[in-house]
Amino acid sequence: MYNGVLPPTFAARQRTLAAITRLTAPMYRTHTCNELRLSDVGKTVTLSGWVAASRDLGGLTFIDLRDRYGITQLVFDMEDNAPLCERARRLGREYVIQASGIVRERANKNPNRDTGDIEVQVAELVVLNPAKTPPFTIVDDTDGGDDLRMKYRYLDLRRPCLQKNLLFRSRLSLETRQYLAAQGFVEIETPFLIKSTPEGARDFVVPSRMNRGQFYALPQSPQTFKQILMVAGYDRYFQIVRCFRDEDLRADRQPEFTQIDCEMAFVHQEDVLQTFEGLTRYLFQTLLGVDLGPFPRMTYDEALRRFGSDKPDLRFGMEFCDLTALARGKGFAAFDQAESVLAICAPGCASYSRRQIDELTEWVRRPQIGAGGLAYVRYDTDDSVKSSVDRYYSGEELRHWLHHCQAKPGDLLLILAGPTEKTQKQLSELRLEMGARLQLRPPNVFKPLWVLDFPLLEWDEEEGRFFAMHHPFTSPKAADIPKMSSQDHQVLKSIRADAYDLVINGVEIGGGSIRIHDRELQSRNFRLLGFTAEEAEAQFGFLLGAFEYGAPPHGGIAFGFDRLCAVMNGAASIRDFIAFPKNNQGRDVMIDAPDVLRPKQLEELGICIAQRADEPKQ
Ligand code: AMO
Repeated sequence: MYNGVLPPTFAARQRTLAAITRLTAPMYRTHTCNELRLSDVGKTVTLSGWVAASRDLGGLTFIDLRDRYGITQLVFDMEDNAPLCERARRLGREYVIQASGIVRERANKNPNRDTGDIEVQVAELVVLNPAKTPPFTIVDDTDGGDDLRMKYRYLDLRRPCLQKNLLFRSRLSLETRQYLAAQGFVEIETPFLIKSTPEGARDFVVPSRMNRGQFYALPQSPQTFKQILMVAGYDRYFQIVRCFRDEDLRADRQPEFTQIDCEMAFVHQEDVLQTFEGLTRYLFQTLLGVDLGPFPRMTYDEALRRFGSDKPDLRFGMEFCDLTALARGKGFAAFDQAESVLAICAPGCASYSRRQIDELTEWVRRPQIGAGGLAYVRYDTDDSVKSSVDRYYSGEELRHWLHHCQAKPGDLLLILAGPTEKTQKQLSELRLEMGARLQLRPPNVFKPLWVLDFPLLEWDEEEGRFFAMHHPFTSPKAADIPKMSSQDHQVLKSIRADAYDLVINGVEIGGGSIRIHDRELQSRNFRLLGFTAEEAEAQFGFLLGAFEYGAPPHGGIAFGFDRLCAVMNGAASIRDFIAFPKNNQGRDVMIDAPDVLRPKQLEELGICIAQRADEPKQ
């Protein structure tokens, strides 16, 4: 009797569904390709799937039949049924077939496969659809290059590793919803056709046919809407939502990506941190069986001082050591003139050859890093000290440096010098590179970190104005509000915000803040960001207006959902966790987008495309 709950196995589900709907038509399959075991030996079964591989051993033909659950071996016996065996031999890779037969125990078992103890001796074979030979092999370790796999994404997605990733993603979103719903969060959708704003990254824009000459923008995040929802009284909001940003792409950036976006009313920073630390720990525990423990915390300033980055990878040490005071004043111009002389101590690298050090020097000189040079001090295991700068510094002085950096015999001190911010960035890159080379960043170890007290403002040299480091709705720390009236850039730069990031293994997983909920303070902040009162009104009047109708104190956070998937799986690229990602030029090569519009569409939209002189005529 059906009790409203479907049974857990595929076969049982099929039988129950058939019983409910009184289906009389034959079923495509009784089991999936990952379901049959020794206990099923002797049963008559029907499987459907794709031909993953075939082996013709003369008397016997073996086919590996694949579906998203796994692989089952089919066997066709020449002696038993020669015509059927002949047909099986002609099956091409990726043909879609249905096979019925009897489950039997395998002579040569395959311990690496869940169904490796059995095979199906086929009595009936139906070709459901033939297939062209795929342009690359559909296996994890495929021979297909990036471009080819993106063009044939449907074949790429058939590969077990990608199927595993997408199933993981699906479970992660289900578990996220479950956790947040249990915490009283309400899922509310916000619009995709919104208004362009000058802050943040570039917007993707959409022309409006009905409002000629006007454009919507796709949201970079639902930030203002979720704040409006707080004014509206939905005090715990979340959404697993697509966001759009027209920015340069990297392994961890896509033009459209997904956030777990949240906002809470009547909360302090601590409430938000506790809630989302709870979510993260729950997700790691449920999906990976990993207990992350309580998350350490660090201020932004401390993270930069110790690791040169606001998203330090804490899987390994190699903390920065400041040699500025010790290195200056000995006649070495590069260090004397530098604002900062910073070092990391690479454990066990004193044995590096001249060539290895030259290669590292070239590495930091590449334009992507941009360092002028790399100095080193080698602390050999025989206690001797050698350095690239020993013309300027005595053995005594160099030993002092080693001591200051807590180096041990066998270690290599790597030193960069220059303007502080730039040098911190460069040394941080070198630290990560050394961590990778020394295999100190294992993919299955997870080190979370809250980075707190971000600056409110960041100076943009090119535009000659301050930008909000997080976004313009972020609240300054109460103690720093008086500094907002200062004219001094250094004072303004030192204003801290109630803004925080969650970092895992050196990846920024999420960022959020406590928001300004007072109209007057919000207007002051807009002024600091260079908006006139009119501009602020034109851009954000709706939010400022809403703040006049009872805005509760509120704050929130958004996690990069694709990044969370990738980090949890120890993967560097988020592309492998997105079903249909864009390539590095922002193109979807499968559907060939973006594309030109027909002249009639352009005309309807009131858009006239000017041809650049250097462009080939269409
Ligand atoms: P933020 O801009 O920090 O905050 O974004 C939140 C998180 O989204 C992820 N992310 C991306 N992932 C993939 N591709 C991209 N192009 C990309 N850009 C960002 C990152 C990041 O930490 N509205 C605020 C949140 C808030 O204040 O509540 C916001 O969007 O993991």
